[in-house]
Amino acid sequence: MKHEDAATALLDWYDTHARVLPWRVSPADRAAGVAPDPYRVWMSEIMLQQTTVAAVKSYFERFTALWPSVTDLANAEDERVMGEWAGLGYYARARNLLKCARVIRDEFDGVFPRTRIALQSLPGVGPYTSAAIASIAFDLPETVVDGNVERVVSRLFRVETPLPTAKPELTELAETLTPIARPGDYAQAMMDLGATICTPKSPACGICPLSYVCAARHAGDQARFPLKSPK
Ligand code: ADE
Repeated sequence: MKHEDAATALLDWYDTHARVLPWRVSPADRAAGVAPDPYRVWMSEIMLQQTTVAAVKSYFERFTALWPSVTDLANAEDERVMGEWAGLGYYARARNLLKCARVIRDEFDGVFPRTRIALQSLPGVGPYTSAAIASIAFDLPETVVDGNVERVVSRLFRVETPLPTAKPELTELAETLTPIARPGDYAQAMMDLGATICTPKSPACGICPLSYVCAARHAGDQARFPLKSPK
């Protein structure tokens, strides 16, 4: 597979098929060079950690309407924020959200740090979230690997190692695919592909922009991947 070609095919697909989501910059704004707001990227990634896109949307819109900037959130009352979080679950996320907002207000002058290392020093921000913020908000060439990306990559390369052992291998393969140009769009395109086309069951290979380079598709056994260790 030519990695650059695969990334280009995926980005072309994303330009016309990206899901419209409240934390994303619209295609028109993107074309005009509008950058995503790291506060909104961070908030969406924290909310999406254990919750579906469909459930997160209204919470995200309410939080960002109530607290349009990280400093606004940092200045909010704990009880108010916890109350608005009710229903999303995993309340440690909300407590870390507030902690993180206050660290950014008090130690970073209200400005999100850009590097993965600095981002990972923030409460509630681990390897996944730091990569997502660095790539999506700052367009740095970091690779975001979630369950969707693992599935896509395991099929593209027909990775015979079962999960979770395969994680480092899948991460490395995902890194080799990440383009220098538009890594943030690439990360979100991989997520959209996994969520809408390269689904766990009955993937829609007929309309997949990567089917022509997909080893599992060529072998006709895409549903076998990713392999999982018996529990
Ligand atoms: N899941 C986690 N992060 C996401 C994002 N930025 N877009 C869509 N789905 C996601």
